[in-house]
Amino acid sequence: MIRRLFAAGLGATLLVPPRAFAATLATTPQQTEGPFYPVGFPADMDNDLVQVRGQPAQAMGTILHLQGRVLDTSGRTVPGAMVEIWQCDAQGIYDHPRQPGRERRDQAFQGYGRMLVDAEGRYNFRTLKPVAYPGRTPHIHFKVATAAGRPLTSQFYIAGEPQNERDFVYRDAARSPQQRERIEMRLQPAPGLEPGALATSMDIVVG
Ligand SMILES: [Fe+2]
Repeated sequence: MIRRLFAAGLGATLLVPPRAFAATLATTPQQTEGPFYPVGFPADMDNDLVQVRGQPAQAMGTILHLQGRVLDTSGRTVPGAMVEIWQCDAQGIYDHPRQPGRERRDQAFQGYGRMLVDAEGRYNFRTLKPVAYPGRTPHIHFKVATAAGRPLTSQFYIAGEPQNERDFVYRDAARSPQQRERIEMRLQPAPGLEPGALATSMDIVVG
């Protein structure tokens, strides 16, 4: 009986149309959420983390335009995907109760933002080039929720950053060239967007 079921399953596999065997994209590796996911969301949680609504000051630090698409492993866009990012300010301080020295944080940095992807599956954030804090190489946390499956929680790093190789979270996620490509941001000057700003494009592939 078991043998017959196995044979039937094999036959079914061979009948799957060739399209189903198209090359698949490597998924973005899951990584720890870490201790600093917001416990209370800021009043302003749009996709511009450098400017807090109602405040004239702009956040300290180097501005980074982070954009990309949310795709499935076949390269199709994922309608309705929600992308969240969170990170520390330019001094390495999170807006979080567990953060020592939280009172010294840059009040002009939003720290967290979220947005729904557009019709082409695109997201974009105006945020900061991440900085190191004790024990961690620079990184941006992100989470993607879709209609299907559990949320993807991961982190972006800076390609070529010497501290990456000493960071255990990075090392655990960056085990192959394909995984590194999903989590390492190549930062490019973007003077056309705004003076002194950097930009990077990171597609997020959900399983
Ligand atoms: Fe972190």
